Amino acid sequence: MKHIVVLTGAGMSAESGIKTFRDADGLWEGHDVMEVATPEGFKRNPELVLNFYNERRKQLKEVEPNQAHKDLAALENNYKVSIITQNVDDLHERTGSSNVIHLHGELRKIRSSGYENDIRTWSEDIHLGDTCEKGHQLRPHIVWFGEAVPMIDTAVEICQQADILVIIGTSMQVYPAAGLLDFAPTQTPIYYIDPKPAIGSSGKVTVIVKSATEGMKELLALL
Ligand code: APR
Repeated sequence: MKHIVVLTGAGMSAESGIKTFRDADGLWEGHDVMEVATPEGFKRNPELVLNFYNERRKQLKEVEPNQAHKDLAALENNYKVSIITQNVDDLHERTGSSNVIHLHGELRKIRSSGYENDIRTWSEDIHLGDTCEKGHQLRPHIVWFGEAVPMIDTAVEICQQADILVIIGTSMQVYPAAGLLDFAPTQTPIYYIDPKPAIGSSGKVTVIVKSATEGMKELLALL
């Protein structure tokens, strides 16, 4: 079976109703990203940051996977599929994709501020004062700007094994995620689906200038 590796970004979930980051002037659901997605922001105003992710976690209960998530899950009938997502939602898992790596963490998980390996599955709100057993504030299990990306080595290894690389809905501005395509073997074809792509078609890169759902239809016809 050929191995398809898929790198997804915020545009993957846009048609499910989850806003992207950079389509709204650097604001994420009305907030400055630096306010809600940095350790400094969390120190300055922990309550605001906890509430922000509480809202995002609630939103997960209201949104549904779109057809592009479903098409990716169905690819498993014919290919080995690995998904590397920058998204913190759980829409890939909810459509049944079985190999999903979250580079930037998961809304459905939280962790202790004192012990980064003390990670728990969580579907409710976190409040200021909610602590782990050792007394450290609980925080979202999200990789904020300036923090290490623990899953990047695993993601690199997966990209090195790609027979086909598919990139969907990312502005490719945030590293190290944006550098992953460089690890695909030289002969591996790359398909990039995005209505406002960050790069153009060239050599082995085929850009499909469409939304995730429309672009996936085109990709399925090409494969
Ligand atoms: N289908 C596919 N792509 C879309 C759609 C759609 N319906 N709508 C928008 N897009 C594209 C945009 O054209 C853009 O290229 O999705 C991309 C979204 O880019 P960003 O908002 O920058 O999101 P992403 O690349 O995932 O951001 C990376 O930055 O803020 C951090 O940690 C956060 O994981 C995030 C990372």
